[in-house]
Amino acid sequence: SKEQKVLIFIFGGTGDLAQRKLYPSLFNLYKKGFLKENFAVIGTARRPWTNEHYQQVIRNSISGMEDTAKQATEFSRHFYYQSHNVDDSEHYVTLKELADQLDIKYGIDGNRLFYLAMSPKFFGTICKNLRGEKVTSDNGYNRVVIEKPFGHDLSSAQSLNDDIAKYFPENSIYRIDHYLGKEMDQNILAVRFGNNIFRALWNNRYIDNIQITLSESLGVEERAGYYETAGALRDMVQNHILQIVSLLTMNAPVTFTDEDIRNEKINALKALQVYTPKEVAENFVRGQYDENGDLKAYRQEASVDPKSLTETFVAGKLHINNMDFSGVPIYIRTGKRLATKATRIDIVFKNMPNNIFSDTEELMPNVLSFNVDANPGMELTLNTKKVSQGGYALENRTLKYTHDEATQAITPEAYEKLILDTIKGDTTNFVHAQEVFYSWKFVDAIRKAWDEQAITPEELTNYISNSMGPKASDDLLARDGNKWIFNP
Ligand code: BG6
Repeated sequence: SKEQKVLIFIFGGTGDLAQRKLYPSLFNLYKKGFLKENFAVIGTARRPWTNEHYQQVIRNSISGMEDTAKQATEFSRHFYYQSHNVDDSEHYVTLKELADQLDIKYGIDGNRLFYLAMSPKFFGTICKNLRGEKVTSDNGYNRVVIEKPFGHDLSSAQSLNDDIAKYFPENSIYRIDHYLGKEMDQNILAVRFGNNIFRALWNNRYIDNIQITLSESLGVEERAGYYETAGALRDMVQNHILQIVSLLTMNAPVTFTDEDIRNEKINALKALQVYTPKEVAENFVRGQYDENGDLKAYRQEASVDPKSLTETFVAGKLHINNMDFSGVPIYIRTGKRLATKATRIDIVFKNMPNNIFSDTEELMPNVLSFNVDANPGMELTLNTKKVSQGGYALENRTLKYTHDEATQAITPEAYEKLILDTIKGDTTNFVHAQEVFYSWKFVDAIRKAWDEQAITPEELTNYISNSMGPKASDDLLARDGNKWIFNP
């Protein structure tokens, strides 16, 4: 049967992530029968909540999703609350007792999932105590799920990892990057390794350049406290964008298993060219959004330093130095307060070496595109004959596939898919420690060059809200004779 037996611990059970994402995802898994009788959830946090209150919070966070009130109530009865101080080892003794009781009561067979929806500064202590006080089980599995940020540079990421890896082996650590749970990002491997036409073309002989855009229309919202210390480079490039780069440029895995896939992703990220400060200046641009009408400048937002040098936009050109991708520029950009909310990937193929159509001034390069967020689907542009009485001219047409409404309606949310993967023990769509390290190595070189560069706040405020970023981002491609294909 598809029913999973699992005891889930949510550290940070009163928090925003738990209420907005985790409980609704678990409820969907319950509605679909992946979670049924043999599961329980222990939520922990500092506050002294009762089980009744906690269960009410659970029902609130899934309200509107239930088929019947009875269903919501029955689901919420699987939830238990334990007030917990992560630094106090005594508290783990209590947690273990509760866990062992629930394990018997629900017939869970020792499968334990520890979801750390908390600040990474607590990860080490929690993992140490889980083992030390034997909150882990001896019969089933013990897995840890963690959220970003995985450090703020290579060395902090390594020490964070050491703190966890002392107690849990790599294959039981699930590092979430929610972009890996998005259907269209997962489609990259399907298109690449399920279609011979693309297998043949997917290399530096036929691909001219790759463009990746992660644009957001929202500003920093209420997250200035975190964002001021991160910036777009750490917030989006180190994780989501480099993960997409690895899927686009990795070699074919020998088998479609998590181990083989992640090995190839590691190799792709290992091949990232780490830039010198001079190369950073040539290949990367940053920006910060300025006001536009009612939209505030970043520096006017609540809790943002009025002289902040935090970038809210990054564009760059990456190089992957492996056999198939050496020489192919990979352009990336991401930012807040841009013209649209979209994740878009464009694979631009090399143009025909010779244009034999004398009535057509210029042939357009073929482009394969992935639309990841709104209207998920793919597009392929082709040069085709223009309808005419005489003459023979070509025009550019687009083959377009979009998931229909019914398909979109049954598409699970990224978190729901990823949580099910953690329960099933599939690490394919989680980030391996080595991926994290190679990504930071690349990002650190940029961060360092920027931090050493004198820049005035005025120089950084270089794009107006609702645009597609600073002019320097267009210039970056123009210097190579290219331009951004995605132009909303
Ligand atoms: C998060 C970033 O990882 O991704 C946020 O911290 C960003 O700043 C978010 O807004 C974007 O995710 P999505 O799924 O809305 O594209």
